Amino acid sequence: MSAEQKPERKDCPKEIKRRDFLAGLGFGGLGILAAQSTVIGGAYIYPRGKALTSGAFQVGTPDQYPEGVTYVDGKRVFIVRDAEGLRAVSAVCTHLGCTVNWVADKGQYECPCHGSVFDAKTGDVSGGPAPRGLDFVSLALLEDGSLQVDPTVPVTRSQVLKA
Ligand code: FES
Repeated sequence: MSAEQKPERKDCPKEIKRRDFLAGLGFGGLGILAAQSTVIGGAYIYPRGKALTSGAFQVGTPDQYPEGVTYVDGKRVFIVRDAEGLRAVSAVCTHLGCTVNWVADKGQYECPCHGSVFDAKTGDVSGGPAPRGLDFVSLALLEDGSLQVDPTVPVTRSQVLKA
């Protein structure tokens, strides 16, 4: 064989033909897609802890909350302490979802968007267009002494955390 002659392609068993290469890429991509689907699907079927299914977050310790109403910055929730204990009240207005304010000198929650007003103790609507009162939501004391709020879990006002 002279230097100018090239072996025929079919004589070289290690040569990867373009069609085979592209087919391999396609099957590889399908394999990656199947693996991703399995992992993502598995996360829904077997969630790890509550993190994937709940909106729970920690809000410090009970001693951070004196008697009265304390807004938790950035969390859209109030921690309310009275003689009975602690409660968590959602700051999400039941009209169109604005964040309500606690107006201490009036002793009521007020929505800045359309003027709904909510009773301090019951969260009931006392004015404005809101269709129902503010939600009381789950508040729990964890083993490490921190408080956990889960705004996706509604509770009744009678559920008080003694802490
Ligand atoms: S969103 Fe609160 S009154 Fe409309």
